[in-house]
Amino acid sequence: MKPAASEEKLKYISGFGNNFATEAVAGALPVGMNSPQKAPLGLYAEQLSGTAFTVPRSGNKRTWAYRIRPSVLHKPFAQIENGRWQSSFAELPVTPNQLRWNPLPLPENETDFVDGVTTIAGNGDLFAQAGIAIHVFAANKNMTDRFFYNADAEMLVIGELNRVRFLTELGVLEIGAGEIAVIPRGLKFRVELPDGAARGYLCENYGALFRIPDLGPIGANGLANPRDFETPEAWFEDREGDFELVAKFGGNLWSAEIDASPLDVVGWHGNYAPYRYDLRRFNTIGSISYDHPDPSIFTVLTSPSGEAGVANCDFVIFPDRWLVAENTFRPPWYHRNYMSEFMGLCYGQYDAKEEGFVPGGGSLHNCMSAHGPDLDAFEKASNADLAPQKLSGTMAFMLESRYVIRPTRFAMETDALQADYFKVWQKLKRNF
Ligand SMILES: [Fe+2]
Repeated sequence: MKPAASEEKLKYISGFGNNFATEAVAGALPVGMNSPQKAPLGLYAEQLSGTAFTVPRSGNKRTWAYRIRPSVLHKPFAQIENGRWQSSFAELPVTPNQLRWNPLPLPENETDFVDGVTTIAGNGDLFAQAGIAIHVFAANKNMTDRFFYNADAEMLVIGELNRVRFLTELGVLEIGAGEIAVIPRGLKFRVELPDGAARGYLCENYGALFRIPDLGPIGANGLANPRDFETPEAWFEDREGDFELVAKFGGNLWSAEIDASPLDVVGWHGNYAPYRYDLRRFNTIGSISYDHPDPSIFTVLTSPSGEAGVANCDFVIFPDRWLVAENTFRPPWYHRNYMSEFMGLCYGQYDAKEEGFVPGGGSLHNCMSAHGPDLDAFEKASNADLAPQKLSGTMAFMLESRYVIRPTRFAMETDALQADYFKVWQKLKRNF
């Protein structure tokens, strides 16, 4: 069956966290109130709140949806298999060793987005609304009659191989390699794969919602500019049949029968909505004299933990940029950090690791675990001609967290784990 949104150009509204108002049919939104005695066009009014009601206005998130049927129309949920999707991270003692993985292969069997999730690592506790889970996904099958929502987390999806299209209650958004989508906690959606099999990364954020960071002395512009975030315009499908709604709740997957598509929101207004962002639009800021700033200068989104400046999760990127610093070792120097770092690669090559760290793979350097450029990168950068240099065609990212990131048993036992990763540093010699 053809997806309803396939023929039309997807339509987006610009802005980060704005109060949007959009209707797929004129007159779907009531004027001047949220819940009239009878909603327009015979629709049901339903609020989706993404924060506690009493959160200060600057961070308060909610959306009013005007829909064909209310969300409560489903049969009871029954638990189903979680597959390789995990939400607890205490299976094994967490190692201080540096870890690196090859990409997982694309599935051979028919696998949709929900079934294609493999958990690599995580931290915190979804029940305490703290921490993150880090997954890769690889899928080859459209979700047509199957819908999903995640009550445990906001979902940050990072495109790596081929396009992924999210048909959500609030509209349709699509990402490719080097683009991200953020799907709010609770929002129902299904996933189509316009190019066939697709792969990427998924960060479940159990904590405070991602936001663009404050800019401090940088000023009013820079890093990810708000207008480059895109939220879909209202779109709906009016389909009835024997469908399935899968919920991720309390760390497990649950399935319920539904007899109509829940993507039936004809109009909505509010500031709790999915969005996408093309990471290539990021305005990089760096040194124009010497040294380089800490990687926090490349923060796209941050999920605060409650302690000022100490993130539950920072999403940081390393995109194309000019390196111009004088008398400076230009890749990251060797370091041991308070924050734990998981890295992935959308495309290209990362400047501190020219080999072994490949698109779809990942690396993990936990709290105080030493790391830095491998031997080749060190030699090259130490002896490079320091003319201005353009890093091109590259998009690495990092998920940083205040909490130690604990790999799953799967991640520690898979063949994709590079047993010899530590060797990339072992030939570094003393030059003193
Ligand atoms: Fe690092």
